[in-house]
Amino acid sequence: MALRRIAQLGEPVLRQHARELASAELGSPEIQRLIDDMIETMRDADGAGIAAPQVYESVQLVVIEVRENPRYPNVEPIPLMVLANPVLTSDVPSLPGELADADAFSVYEGCLSVPGVRGRVRRPRRVHVRALDRHGAPLAFTWEGFRAVVVQHETDHLWGTLFVDRADPRTFTFLREYERHVPVASRLVDGGALNRI
Ligand code: NI
Repeated sequence: MALRRIAQLGEPVLRQHARELASAELGSPEIQRLIDDMIETMRDADGAGIAAPQVYESVQLVVIEVRENPRYPNVEPIPLMVLANPVLTSDVPSLPGELADADAFSVYEGCLSVPGVRGRVRRPRRVHVRALDRHGAPLAFTWEGFRAVVVQHETDHLWGTLFVDRADPRTFTFLREYERHVPVASRLVDGGALNRI
């Protein structure tokens, strides 16, 4: 395994549509090595996930994992997931303006390709995911809460979309200012809590 260089905001590869992987190709030594390298690179950078375009490979692969993560304290852990060709669907509108508070999850997102910056993004709090695992077996599951946000952020990368495209531009903040001025209570707001009241 090896650490890969992480593409930074402005690299054209971050704006391309990544190509789908055929199941036979998924099993190739090159793609299996890429997956291992993505996992190592994500862990080394304390990321919650990484998408292949972020390591200059324009293919539809993402890895996600949240262990004890200093960048995201107080969030639920996510076991290691490798998703190839992920397709996400939602039962609610994905446009922030049309999304009801109870269906929304708002969090100050960050990205390994946009270091030092956070911005508040409002997304559906529940998504259905279909994908292949690293061995080509089909996966289908529904995620809610923080993990639903992470899989949306990572899948966006495969379509050339970054969180800066979706964030409320008035909420952009550098990390030092985030720590100083963004109240803890507004850093992560799960509309699902409204459902339970
Ligand atoms: Ni990202």
